[in-house]
Amino acid sequence: MNATVSRPLTAHPGRALSGDITVPGDKSISHRALMFAGLAVGRTRITGLLEGEDVLRTAAAMRALGAEISHDAQGWQVWGRGVGGLTEPDDVLDMGNSGTAARLLCGLLASHPMFAVMTGDASLRRRPMRRVTDPLAAIGARFAGRAGGRLPLAIEGAADPLPVAYRLPVASAQVKSALLLAGLNAAGHSVIEEPEPTRDHSENMLRHFGARVDIEPDGAGRVITLHGQPELRAADIEVPGDPSSAAFPLAAALLVAGSAVRVRNVGLNPLRAGLFATLAEMGARIDIANHRIAGGEPVADVTASHGGLRSVDVPAARVPSMIDEYPILAVIAATATGTSRMRGLKELRVKESDRLAATAAMLDAAGVRVAIEGDDLLVHGTGGAPPGGGLVATHMDHRLAMSGLVLGLSARAAMRVDDASFIDTSFPGFVALMRGLGADIG
Ligand code: S3P
Repeated sequence: MNATVSRPLTAHPGRALSGDITVPGDKSISHRALMFAGLAVGRTRITGLLEGEDVLRTAAAMRALGAEISHDAQGWQVWGRGVGGLTEPDDVLDMGNSGTAARLLCGLLASHPMFAVMTGDASLRRRPMRRVTDPLAAIGARFAGRAGGRLPLAIEGAADPLPVAYRLPVASAQVKSALLLAGLNAAGHSVIEEPEPTRDHSENMLRHFGARVDIEPDGAGRVITLHGQPELRAADIEVPGDPSSAAFPLAAALLVAGSAVRVRNVGLNPLRAGLFATLAEMGARIDIANHRIAGGEPVADVTASHGGLRSVDVPAARVPSMIDEYPILAVIAATATGTSRMRGLKELRVKESDRLAATAAMLDAAGVRVAIEGDDLLVHGTGGAPPGGGLVATHMDHRLAMSGLVLGLSARAAMRVDDASFIDTSFPGFVALMRGLGADIG
């Protein structure tokens, strides 16, 4: 991806979509697979890894830290260094557009006694890092960054890290995972309290590699205890399709008349599946079949077909399980009958863009009435195809670009997105796949 050359694209309405597809591997699981395998002893084989820009940044960083990583037609292989065995990188680590890569890597570096410098693209350099560096400083790591703790960041890992004892002030799987990665190389037990449960791929994968992780319910949330300095043993990983990517072709099928699309092998970890609960409440024609476990995670085949949708009121408690799906849910709500309210979207302001403002602006550009009230987003559904005919400002945000294109497919007049190049961070091949379903995007 060349971030300096923007790639505008236009999605034209009209054609029904149909097909039976798979989507690329889960982004969250792919980052973690490379990182945990890099800390395990022996060779881990990974199939289905997302080969998007974000994950390739993690692969490059893990190589720079001493893991041996190769790939061929069968998949990826990682020869790990063992817990605490990473070596000092001899150059700046550039995490591109990826908040997950940057934050998780801060955790990993915090408990290795070495010096590293991390940077990222203009979007990532704007994003808050204190949420990870403050608790990591408490275990003995030192950080020097720009105002607000932003990247570029210099990191001096702790020689003798303390275990983590932290209650998350924000519901963030990135922060939790950074602390688990740091706690791996600390003696004793690291204890992390999360007031609201967030995606648990790190916990699942740590257990898969042989670490002891205890999880206790605590009110609405959980207390996670990691037994420090385990020997992680290489263990193969099968990465399921990313539900956050599957959301786009499925949404297009819901919205475009005459459409039906099946996406196979979609990861349906309950802490990621909030969109599907919401769509059920909207009366969406979604069929989930062939439930099974693959690579330790629940997966299924999901089919969506066009049909009448009604508005929805999404509670704030559901935010962590569908945090990345609000832009596309807002597009779906734009075609529903009635006014939808999505509550408690504060965290959207610190994603790849200010996704709350940018999602509202996208719908406004399509002639849909929207409002932001506090941290809530209100979408006044048009009860059918929205007017369209506008330009979407994507602000270096892959999910806005894909949402804007789906909006164009479902509107009365085409929608243009100013830059589709960032789609490659999470969903390489998105445009070709949508065209294969019949979409008119060009
Ligand atoms: C992710 C967690 C979420 C999500 C991001 C991936 C992860 O971020 O938005 O795309 O892999 O842990 P937060 O934990 O900051 O909410």
